[in-house]
Amino acid sequence: MPAAKGRFITLEGVDGAGKSVHLPWIAHWLQAPGREVLVTREPGGTPLAEKLRTLVLAEAMDPLSETLVMFAARADHVARTIQPALARGAWVLCDRFTDSTCAYQGAGKRVPQTLILRLARYVHPDLQPDRTLLFDCSFEVSRQRLQATGRDLDRFERETREFFDRVRAGYRRLAAAEPERIRVIDAAQPLEHVRAQVRAALADLGGR
Ligand code: TYD
Repeated sequence: MPAAKGRFITLEGVDGAGKSVHLPWIAHWLQAPGREVLVTREPGGTPLAEKLRTLVLAEAMDPLSETLVMFAARADHVARTIQPALARGAWVLCDRFTDSTCAYQGAGKRVPQTLILRLARYVHPDLQPDRTLLFDCSFEVSRQRLQATGRDLDRFERETREFFDRVRAGYRRLAAAEPERIRVIDAAQPLEHVRAQVRAALADLGGR
């Protein structure tokens, strides 16, 4: 029998679009008899990468350093968590991946995309998400939702509207360039409608 092939699914989007609300039920929905679903996140997903997460979300740094920290965390995460899981046939559901670096550090902070793509090719040469769900919403919806959480915001969530708009536009460009991999989810819709969009966007993966 051929080895079971794992799938790599990533969730992306501007802060406050509701990724975190949807992630647990997506993981649950992907469960099938005999299938392992591993939920992980970036930056993070290993002890070292979680330390780097704490640092990079709190500490102001120049955009290049920020990019390199994201990729340092990613290198550890890919090698220790993602690749081994995929190799044993698990489905990996990852909250953010390299598209976040393209959108936030690239489009948002103007780090050259060519540099980001070079780093990506070096850090994960053979790894690309099988499917990416891009949760998209306006600045107004994002702010409303972040305020409703009542928690302290990290330094990316406290950024200006101009930054938000650049990140959002960056994501939409990525989706336009790769419509097969990246499916745009209108996250401003009521919960049930968002769920229906997510189910439709994953239907052809052979999941459910
Ligand atoms: P997120 O997991 O959405 O935070 P929360 O737990 O508050 O929902 O993301 C953490 C932040 O990190 C988010 O604002 C985007 C940022 N980020 C980057 O800027 N570049 C990256 O490469 C990654 C992975 C995240």
